Parts: sequence; C-alpha cells; structure tokens
Amino acid sequence: MISTNQRFYGEVVEGLSATPKYLQSKYFYDKNGDDLFQRIMRCPEYYLTRCEEEIFSLQSHDIAGSVKSYLKDFEVIGLGAGDGSKSAYLLKEFLNQKLADTYYPVDISANIIQLLEENIPKDIVGLKVKGFHGEYIEMLRNIRQFSNKRKIIFFLGSNVGNYRPDQAIRFCCEMHECMNAGDLLLIGFDLKKNPQVILDAYSDKQGLTKDFNLNLLTRINRELGGNFKLGNFDHYAMYDPVSGACKSFLVSLKNQQVKMGSDFSADFSPNEIIQMEISQKYSIEAIDVLAERSGFKVLGKFYDSKKWFTDCLWQKV
Ligand code: AVJ
Repeated sequence: MISTNQRFYGEVVEGLSATPKYLQSKYFYDKNGDDLFQRIMRCPEYYLTRCEEEIFSLQSHDIAGSVKSYLKDFEVIGLGAGDGSKSAYLLKEFLNQKLADTYYPVDISANIIQLLEENIPKDIVGLKVKGFHGEYIEMLRNIRQFSNKRKIIFFLGSNVGNYRPDQAIRFCCEMHECMNAGDLLLIGFDLKKNPQVILDAYSDKQGLTKDFNLNLLTRINRELGGNFKLGNFDHYAMYDPVSGACKSFLVSLKNQQVKMGSDFSADFSPNEIIQMEISQKYSIEAIDVLAERSGFKVLGKFYDSKKWFTDCLWQKV
C-alpha cells in the first residue's frame, strides 16, 4: 500500500491536517469517479460538455485550419484527456489533412489511459496512440524526452478551472516551460454566465456531484485504510459571481473522528467543512491576462452558440 499510494496518502494527511481541511480534486478520478464523471457530463444541468462538444463538432475544420497556418507537422498531447470524445473530432481533421498522426493522452486515471489506448485506434484508424498515466507536468517532461517533434497541447473541458487563478498562472508557466517556441496550446475555459446556471451544474438534482465528491472518501477508505462514514457528510456547492469561483465542500454532520490506517486520525466538529474542488469561471479579459502573464500569444478563440464556453488557441512565443 505505502509504495504505490505514498503520494496519495501524504497529500490526504496534509489536507486533513490543514485548517480549513481540504482534499485535492485530482484524486476524484478512480474507476468509480471516472464513471460518475461520465454520468455528470450527460446530466441536464452540466452544460459544459455539451457546449464544448458543439464547438468541436461544428468548428473542428476551422480550428484545424487555424492550427495549420502555424504548424504543419506535429504531434498532439491531451492533458486530462478524459474519454477523448471531443478531441476525436479534431484528431480526425489533423489525420485527414496529414498534419498529425500521433496522440499522447495524459491522465491521472490509469483506467482512462487504458480505455483510450484500446478504443481510440479503433475509432480513428491510422492514429498512433501512446498514453501517459500521471501528473500533468511530470508527464509533459517525459513526453519531451520521448519525442522532440512540434506539439499542440489540448487542455480541454475547463480542466484549468480546477486551479485557483494564482495556481493557474503558475501552471500555465510550467506548461510553457515544457514547450518549444512556436508550439500551440488549445485550452478550454468555462465562461461567467447567469450564476444560477453555474450553481445548478455543480449541485445537480440527481445528486451525481454529491456522489462524485463522496467517492473520494470511499477511495480513501479502500486505498488508504480510512474509515469515513459517508452518511456523516453532506455536499455543499457555492458560486461567487464576483470572483468566478465555484466551490464544492463536504460538511461534517456531527462531531466525529476519522482514521486512516493506524497512524493518522482527524477530528471533525459539527458543520466543519472539507474543501473539495474549485471550478473557476472566467471572463474573456481574465483569460487574456492569464495568457499574457504565462508567456502565450492569443491566436484565436472559438465559442459555442450561447457563448458559455470557449476554446482558445495560444502559442508559446
Ligand atoms: C473535469 C474539472 C472540468 O470542474 O467542471 C464536474 C469536474 N466537478 N462536476 C469541472 C467536475 C464537478 C469538472 N472538470
């Protein structure tokens, strides 16, 4: 247990020892978490996937045209690749136009990487797929050692929203360092909109988002020897339209102690919260500031018909 899960254990101990307590949402994605996220993406309130799907299904030809005017022979990296269904539209364009024939999906979920390596070559015949399972920046460094061809990185689905704005700048700077001048980044942002629409997407009626959050406690129980009782926690989501931060919490319903193995315990008072996830929403201005502060030139922006979501094409200068 300790060797493979050492980092997971260490980061959970760190989070549950902090004030206020927190857990990192990157750990949501085990097999169960992947399945729950698939269901969230299909639920009526979670508009993000449908908006981005609309962009890719209708504008992949235009996006590929834009990319082509900057890079002609390149490879594609997919950060937080997920089920890969949106990327597939663009990967097909790239392959048909003989621009790229290699895809490196990167994901924190080993389950997802295995599925992608199995399924994408069947769906996109001729595309070479080599998956990397692990943390984004570490894997970008690995890929860089592996191949020195020109690259476009896909960072879709508003995954960047899981970083606080200050962390997002740092993260984009780190990505920038892993790229060569001229390389491209296609990055998806969820835009600010009617606050109720956003809040509903993170507090769906079916309770999928609640289960998605609680599943991390189940994972800690299973993989780290925890004894969280799921019925002792509730889910609370809030959205602040001023800062654009949408946050998810678990709330302890009583005074309780939770153990992990024999060496760690955490005490919860009634109504004490665990910060679980941030899903940051952006204005166009804030996106452009992020690009500039992390060393990217904005080449283009693609929107869905409601302008609820945008995929932006950036270049390392
Ligand atoms: C996969 C990070 C884009 O923050 O919207 C969905 C994850 N969390 N519902 C998001 C998520 C709750 C999602 N991302």
